[in-house]
Amino acid sequence: MSSILVDGLTRTYPGGYQALKGVSFSVAQGEFVAVMGPSGCGKSTLLNILGLLDRPTGGRYRLEGAETARLGDAELTGLRRARIGFVFQAFNLLPRLSALENVALPMAYAGTGVPERRARARELLTRVGLGRKAENTPLQLSGGERQRVGIARALANKPALLLADEPTGNLDSKSSAEILALFKELNMEGMTVVLVTHDPAISAAAGRVLKIKDGALA
Ligand SMILES: Nc1ncnc2c1ncn2[C@@H]1O[C@H](COP(=O)(O)OP(=O)(O)OP(=O)(O)O)[C@@H](O)[C@H]1O
Ligand SMILES: [Mg+2]
Repeated sequence: MSSILVDGLTRTYPGGYQALKGVSFSVAQGEFVAVMGPSGCGKSTLLNILGLLDRPTGGRYRLEGAETARLGDAELTGLRRARIGFVFQAFNLLPRLSALENVALPMAYAGTGVPERRARARELLTRVGLGRKAENTPLQLSGGERQRVGIARALANKPALLLADEPTGNLDSKSSAEILALFKELNMEGMTVVLVTHDPAISAAAGRVLKIKDGALA
């Protein structure tokens, strides 16, 4: 089954700017796809729609067989929580919470009990190499470490689909390589991965590259 199917997808922002001009593609379950293209071409706009954080203004988006246009906001939220992990370009961590609490938060929304979510959050932070910084708040972490917390948080509810918006954009080459290895490992375990990147090392590791230019597939 295809994990993602988009057909003629458009997104016009209020004010009239058309950021996506009719994009069609599909991603099979278990694929690792990189999305590339110049700044402003619509990559984050596309990923936000795929992540159910935004709705298209036209076209279809079918996620794991479900027509998302037919779903209400609460259903979309439920689907996102259960199926999707999202790594944001600008981290979006809560500044007053520790790394551990940030990673545990999506599990709290999903109704996981406190001991289990703390244990799993610690395990995920260890997996991204931050086991010893679990109690630090985002301000007490480097940019690369914050991004790794963001990745651990995206994995909290064991998503089938991992979406990442320039996950290594703020990392040095060693941290980038570690993050890339982690994404590959997750993909090997069966997770579908779609990530936006400017990094040729990352797109080379992907099974397929979608090139976007000026709101359309290039
Ligand atoms: N909320 C918004 N309202 C109006 N225009 C927007 C909005 N968000 C994005 N845009 C515009 O849509 C276009 C695509 O933006 P988007 O963030 O998708 O680009 P991008 O490819 O992710 O760029 P980058 O590589 O710099 O992150 C840009 O021209 C941007 O100015
Ligand atoms: Mg972007």
